[in-house]
Amino acid sequence: MAFNLDQEISRRGTNSMKWEFEFGPNGAAYSDRSDPKYGAERLLPMWVADMDFRCPPAVVEALVARAQHGLFGYTAPTADYYEAFIGWVQRRHGWTVQADWVVITPGVVPALNMMVQTYTQPGDKILIQRPVYHPFTFAIENNGRVVVSNSLVAENGRYSIDFDDFAAKAADPDVKMFVLCSPHNPVGRVWTREELTRMGEICFANDVLVVSDEIHCDLIQPEYTFVPFGSISDEFAQRSISCMAPSKTFNLAGLKTSHVMIPDVALRNKLNTFMNNLGVKGINAFGLVSTQTAYTHGDAWLDEVIGYIGDNYRYMASFLADNLPQLCLSPLEGTYLSWLDCRALELDKDELKALLYDQAHLFFNQGYVFGNEGDGFVRINLACPRSLVVEAMDRLKTAVLSLQPA
Ligand SMILES: Cc1ncc(COP(=O)(O)O)c(C=O)c1O
Repeated sequence: MAFNLDQEISRRGTNSMKWEFEFGPNGAAYSDRSDPKYGAERLLPMWVADMDFRCPPAVVEALVARAQHGLFGYTAPTADYYEAFIGWVQRRHGWTVQADWVVITPGVVPALNMMVQTYTQPGDKILIQRPVYHPFTFAIENNGRVVVSNSLVAENGRYSIDFDDFAAKAADPDVKMFVLCSPHNPVGRVWTREELTRMGEICFANDVLVVSDEIHCDLIQPEYTFVPFGSISDEFAQRSISCMAPSKTFNLAGLKTSHVMIPDVALRNKLNTFMNNLGVKGINAFGLVSTQTAYTHGDAWLDEVIGYIGDNYRYMASFLADNLPQLCLSPLEGTYLSWLDCRALELDKDELKALLYDQAHLFFNQGYVFGNEGDGFVRINLACPRSLVVEAMDRLKTAVLSLQPA
C-alpha cells in the first residue's frame, strides 16, 4: 500500500461532524463520544459520508503552499482548473465535458435546492427513488414541492427499478423533474447503461427534466462501470443536468466545491440567473486548489482507496455470512456506503437504535431516514481503516446475540 489506509487518524479538535458531534432532539451538538477515553464505551461513527482517510498527499501539499501565501481574497478559476476536471471525467468515465457547461456550486445539496427552485414551481411533483439520500426529500418538500417515489425493489439485497411504476409516475403531468441518484446512495447500485437509457427515454417522452446526482461516480468497484447520464447521447446531455464533485472522491467535503454540468444553454442561463440573484458566486480559494490538484494527481490514490473499500466490504460480508447470516447485506457496486437489512431482528426503529447506538455504541445511519422503504435497515460507512470495521462487526455480533435467549 502506498498510502497507509490502515492508519487510524484522530479527528479530534477538527470540528469533524462525523467524529465529534452527536444528534439529539435539538440537532447537532458537540460531544466527541468517539474519544478513546470512553474505552469500550466509545462511539464508532460510521454514518455521515466522509472518509477517515487522509486525502491525496499532493492535495495537502498544494493546500499548505496556498495557505502559506497568506492572502485569501476573491478567487476565480482559470482554464487550467476546468481542464483538470474535464481531463478527469474523460480519463475515468470516457465523457467529454465542455468547460462552458460547468456551473460551480458550493456543494451538491445547495445545487439541488437551487435547481428545484429554478426549474419547478411550488406544488409541482418531483420523482425520486426511495430509499434514497434524504436531502433529496428535504430539497423537494422544504421548497414546497411534492415527492413522488418510484420505490426501488430488492431481491436478495440487490435493488432494481420497477419500470412500470416509473413510467406511470413519470406520465403524471404534474411531475416536472426526476432526481436520479447515480450511483445510488444508500443501496449501492451502479446503474447500467440499459437502465439509465430506459429511465431517460421515459422522462424525455413525458417532458420530465432529469437531474443526475453523480457525486459518488468515482467510487466504483472494479467489476462495474459507471455511465454518466449525459454521456449516453446528445439528447441525454441536452435534456439533463449532472452533478459531480471531488468531495466524496477525495474526502474534501468540508471545502464545499462542486460542479453542475448543464449542456443546454437556456437551462444553464436560468440557474446562473437564479444564483446571481442569490449572490451565490465565486469559488472558495481552498476548494479551487484542492479540486484542481486532486483531479490532476489523484488517480493512484483513488485506485488504492477503491480497492481498500472493496476489501472492507468483503471482510464485512464474510463476517456476516459466518456470524449473523440472518442479516442481508446488499452488494456494494459503488459508493463506500453499505446497506444492511436488519429486519430479521424484528425490532422497531427505537429498539434498533437502542441496540446499535445506545448498547453497542455503533453510530450507523438508520434506514428509515431514507424513506419508509428503509425501515429496519442501516447504512454503514466503510471508508475507514479496517480496524474500525473489525471492531464494528464484533460489536454488532455481541449486540445481536444478546437479543437471543441463552
Ligand atoms: C447522493 C449525494 N448527494 C450529495 C451529497 C452531499 O453533497 P454536498 O456535500 O456537495 O452538498 C451526498 C453526501 O453524502 C450524497 O450522498
